[in-house]
Amino acid sequence: MEKRELMYEGKAKKVFKTDDPEVLIVDYKDDATAFNGLKKGSIEGKGVINNKMSNIMMQGLEKKGVPTHFIEELSDRETAVKKVTILPLEVIIRNISAGSFSKRYGVEEGIVFENPTIEFSYKNDELGDPLLNDDHALALKLCTKEELETVKKYAFTVNDFLKEVWKKCGVTLVDFKIEFGKLSDGTIVLADEISPDTCRLWDSETGKKLDKDRFRRDLGNTEEAYIEVMDRLVNSLK
Ligand code: TMP
Ligand code: ASP
Repeated sequence: MEKRELMYEGKAKKVFKTDDPEVLIVDYKDDATAFNGLKKGSIEGKGVINNKMSNIMMQGLEKKGVPTHFIEELSDRETAVKKVTILPLEVIIRNISAGSFSKRYGVEEGIVFENPTIEFSYKNDELGDPLLNDDHALALKLCTKEELETVKKYAFTVNDFLKEVWKKCGVTLVDFKIEFGKLSDGTIVLADEISPDTCRLWDSETGKKLDKDRFRRDLGNTEEAYIEVMDRLVNSLK
């Protein structure tokens, strides 16, 4: 497979075309942003960790019946993925209150929910990714009813899988954001990434934050936290 021209550069990744029109190469950067790009910085080594972690999770999810964009890890930072049209929906699952949930509803962080919650945001930076319900997503024609049902079913499977994987690492999965895409034949697949950028991960014993909140909230030792969760994940798979 031959890497061709840059197709798109996002906040944390570059996407390149290849000689195969159905295949793209994702190249993970160390750049980090928060609050819709207002805060900018970098987390050294993050690209390597997010690439590897995302690929481990996606391969595990394939085995659980969730189709993903993953094809092949090409290098420390590069992965071949299936070309998709991203559904303009951010899908967020929460097991414990934190972040914007706590802010919006005026509750403390750390309340363990009896059942996980799902919510959607309209993937639109100009509008600041506003919260959406199912009917809004359908009214805006962001996806079809069937696609929405598929997305929800897959999202809860992703939650069950990730919770289990992280539990074995002594890590509590608080919440996460995923994105789905559509292949040219219409199949919905999990796309984007699963990493400490997109999940809240707390040490199960101490509650220490092992994710991007360290960067968002200037808690320090962000690089170390990324290395620690990645090490725990790799060791749990041995
Ligand atoms: P929130 O509490 O800020 O809404 O975030 C919920 C989860 O989604 C959290 O694990 C972080 C992740 N997330 C992203 O991956 N990208 C984003 O742009 C935002 C706002 C959150
Ligand atoms: N990546 C997002 C941004 O820059 C926000 C976040 O992850 O907090 O806006």
